[in-house]
Amino acid sequence: MFNAKITGTGSYLPEKIVTNKDFESILDTTDEWIYARTGIRQRHVIAEHETTSSMAEIAAKNALDAAGVDASDIDLIIIGTSSPDRIFPSTACILQNRLGVGDCAAFDVQAACSGFIYALGIAHQFIKSGGAKKALVIGAEANSRILDYSDRSTCVIFGDGAGAVVLEASEEVGILSTHMHSDGQYKDLLYINNPIKDQQQDGENAHMTMLGNDVYKVAVKTLSRIVDETLEANNMTKSDVDWLIPHQANIRIISSVAKKLKMPMERVVLTIEEQGNTSAASVPLALDLAVRDGRIKKGETVLMEAFGGGFVWGSALVKM
Ligand code: UT7
Repeated sequence: MFNAKITGTGSYLPEKIVTNKDFESILDTTDEWIYARTGIRQRHVIAEHETTSSMAEIAAKNALDAAGVDASDIDLIIIGTSSPDRIFPSTACILQNRLGVGDCAAFDVQAACSGFIYALGIAHQFIKSGGAKKALVIGAEANSRILDYSDRSTCVIFGDGAGAVVLEASEEVGILSTHMHSDGQYKDLLYINNPIKDQQQDGENAHMTMLGNDVYKVAVKTLSRIVDETLEANNMTKSDVDWLIPHQANIRIISSVAKKLKMPMERVVLTIEEQGNTSAASVPLALDLAVRDGRIKKGETVLMEAFGGGFVWGSALVKM
């Protein structure tokens, strides 16, 4: 059995920024409403020539540089995404080609906003069992490609971006545990329709639908439960956690999880105001930010958690 350690992080945000104010001219909404209900002020949106794999490539290269690992040494690539370049081949395969990596395993994980946590959990199992030595684990989303810009209840929430980590087999303890759950009974509360079927039947493009308030209620309860589960699995208490890196869906959900952990907000990494909800990319984007600005230090314990359409939810407790 091997330990798996995060040895490098990286991220990418597209240059273009869309502010809440920008939406005021095209939708029946206000900056005040969006900020008060979500904590979001702006989000990044990809340019015409960019794709999920092009964002993932930059994030991956940054993480490889930080880890001091050559792309040719990577033997596993997993991308959490719900906005892939194509239905197949996977965005991970397209990234493999962009990076010029050999014939290692490369696949996408579709676990909505929990995609990165799922990808990290799977990569952890690969490394633990000796099935891989150096993995690229990524969350990348081109949410703007799957939003209906006439639906004010979804289009103001989501943004684009990518975050990546290099996970390596190590002597040192790194990932302490990962936890993954799902409950398909909630499949109609947050989903993207199937473009293949729907385009043939009624000409509808793929777009996201969310019954936000119903999602909100389950998210708060579920994320509180997974915090307990994660700490219990590691015989740890709340005070053992140095940093919380939550999925950035809503500042009110984040605050209630922080409260449950008795964690002051200064110990919570927040990106929601500047980045909005970047689905599977939100946790690795926040991780990279706090590693690079020096907040998260080597040896500290970080709790990551996410919740999304399915519902799917998960957590990872990590010693950096
Ligand atoms: O990342 C995956 C997981 N996702 C989440 O965890 C998201 C969870 N949900 C949420 O974050 C919140 O439910 C939202 C931010 C999406 C919505 O906030 P809310 O406080 O739950 O609002 P609501 O859906 O209950 O809507 C309240 C009112 C409605 O109007 P009426 O029916 O009261 O007249 C909406 O039509 O706000 C209206 N509304 C808006 N008004 C201005 C909805 N979107 C907007 C908008 N601007 N953009």
